[in-house]
Amino acid sequence: MGVQINPSILSADFANLERELGRIAGADAVHVDVMDNHFVPNLTLGLPVVRRIAQVSAMPLDVHLMIEDADRWAPAYADAGAASVTFHAEAAQAPVRLARELRSAGVRAAVAVRPATPVEPLYDLLGEIDMVLVMTVDPGFGGQAFIDGMLAKVRRLRAAVTAAGATVDIQVDGGVSASTIARIARAGANVFVAGSAVYGEADPADAIARLRLLGDAPYEV
Ligand code: DX5
Ligand code: ZN
Repeated sequence: MGVQINPSILSADFANLERELGRIAGADAVHVDVMDNHFVPNLTLGLPVVRRIAQVSAMPLDVHLMIEDADRWAPAYADAGAASVTFHAEAAQAPVRLARELRSAGVRAAVAVRPATPVEPLYDLLGEIDMVLVMTVDPGFGGQAFIDGMLAKVRRLRAAVTAAGATVDIQVDGGVSASTIARIARAGANVFVAGSAVYGEADPADAIARLRLLGDAPYEV
């Protein structure tokens, strides 16, 4: 599993999403943040917009659901054209049943944890999912500072994935930048979401290339 850089369109120009997709050449996937103003104190976009982004994007969609009642809503994002659907552990009643439903719909299933949520309860679920998203800021907004304490969580999770012999990606989201990505990679993450560190730069494609180089560091676990 190589390094993946998934720019978050939360930091893009929402009035020109198709054009903004064209500025992230070299990305592995487009990270789409769905927020419902209940699970997090912010509201972004939902199914109709995701459906259109999927139609016009040349890149796969990595959909991050920051919504309540994930069991009820997540499968519709698989139908809308996502390649990967991430739901929050805190918002799912039956995560294994939901992950199985997503996988049988033909998409990758991923579970996210907020910074204050322990990742250990997911260890017994590693065979049921394709990726764990370790939030490295409290979800809801772009441009927040990386929480250094999350490096230990990533390190423990990488050790658990290795011990289980599982092929599970470890994604980090929040405060990923040229100054944080190398140490996150060394802790064991291999999929990086970056919003402001990509769209906040004059040349987003160049920012992606630089993040990819810096993130290509071996695990030190
Ligand atoms: C925040 C979102 C992130 C956000 C990251 O809750 O899940 O995907 O876009 O933004 P940056 O990279 O600016 O921290
Ligand atoms: Zn996100």
